[in-house]
Amino acid sequence: MVAEYFKEMQQYEMLEIPEKGFIMWHKYGADELHLAHMYVRPEFRRQGLAQELYKRAEALGREMGCKYATCMVTLADKTRPQASRLVRIYMESGFYIDEVYNNNQVILKKDLT
Ligand SMILES: CC(C)(COP(=O)(O)OP(=O)(O)OC[C@H]1O[C@@H](n2cnc3c(N)ncnc32)[C@H](O)[C@@H]1OP(=O)(O)O)[C@@H](O)C(=O)NCCC(=O)NCCS
Repeated sequence: MVAEYFKEMQQYEMLEIPEKGFIMWHKYGADELHLAHMYVRPEFRRQGLAQELYKRAEALGREMGCKYATCMVTLADKTRPQASRLVRIYMESGFYIDEVYNNNQVILKKDLT
């Protein structure tokens, strides 16, 4: 199972603000920009970098002709309190909740056309 996980992860590419943070992205098929694993180093948080990373990823998706963007976020719990912030960041950027799995995983979607 671990091998499968890493094989899937190798399909992702990284968009980085050097030394500060990154977001992983993958183009599924002709139309979908899928985003995952946003990370900003603690000392650079709350300066708008997550929002900036998303904007750069969206611009890239549009350049590649993607018609919509998706991302999956596991909702916050005690071990991952920042996840709710991430959902907020995506929703402020125009995403809506498309599906909910297992009561704690949301698929967010945004039309890019
Ligand atoms: C979630 C995460 C990526 C957010 O990164 P970030 O760079 O701090 O996010 P932003 O700065 O764009 O936005 C965070 C907050 O700062 C606020 N903010 C943005 N610019 C600001 C500024 N100049 N001054 C003050 N606050 C600001 C935003 O309004 C937002 O407020 P909110 O929490 O009330 O929504 C980061 O906390 C992280 O890497 N966490 C650990 C990894 C993780 O949980 N990843 C998600 C799972 S895949």
